[in-house]
Amino acid sequence: MIYYPINTLVQAGIKEIMIVTGTDHAGDFLKLLGSGREFGVKFTFELQDGAKGIADALRLAEDFIDGDKFAAILGDNIFEDNIRPQFENFLTEKKMAKIFLKKVPDAQRFGVAELKGKEVVSIEEKPKNPKTDFAVTGLYMYSGDVFDKIRKLKPSKREEYEITDVNNAYISEGQLSAEVLNGFWSDAGTFESLFHAAQLTRQKEGGK
Ligand code: G1P
Repeated sequence: MIYYPINTLVQAGIKEIMIVTGTDHAGDFLKLLGSGREFGVKFTFELQDGAKGIADALRLAEDFIDGDKFAAILGDNIFEDNIRPQFENFLTEKKMAKIFLKKVPDAQRFGVAELKGKEVVSIEEKPKNPKTDFAVTGLYMYSGDVFDKIRKLKPSKREEYEITDVNNAYISEGQLSAEVLNGFWSDAGTFESLFHAAQLTRQKEGGK
């Protein structure tokens, strides 16, 4: 599971990757991943105290990012698509943020995008009655100004700094673009989805 999201970034041509982990398993990540040489990249490690959400974890990368455009991926998200073309476009396009959508049968487990044509007009985090089937996947592209947006966030009902609030802030400024993924996508946040991700990966790799 850990290698797949890293591979998605490596395929996109990214050479410097910061891994943010909780304190419990930080040593295991360091031991498994090492310097990054094996992947042709350089890893930097950062610790997140407590489970305060994705936006809180992202905040820790501010100095590392140093004002650049960048991509962030969740450690339990498995993507089939090679997102290199989208990342390269993002680096030159005017929009400040990009998200990736995928149609799913269980949208209420995710951030869900409401669309008008191709435009995302709002995102609801884990809605009871999702307005569409389009889940917001755990792959995000941002500009250096994202950290100012994170500083303005208030914790949600689940006491987390929500990445959905960051994305909605970009929507309100007309600065969010969205792409629909072609290939399979799964998170591995439940036993069912972990199993599903393993099955899809096994199929793709031809049982190897
Ligand atoms: C997080 C995000 C959610 C997104 C999902 C993708 O959910 O909050 O918007 O759809 O990742 O995996 P969480 O893993 O915190 O439940």
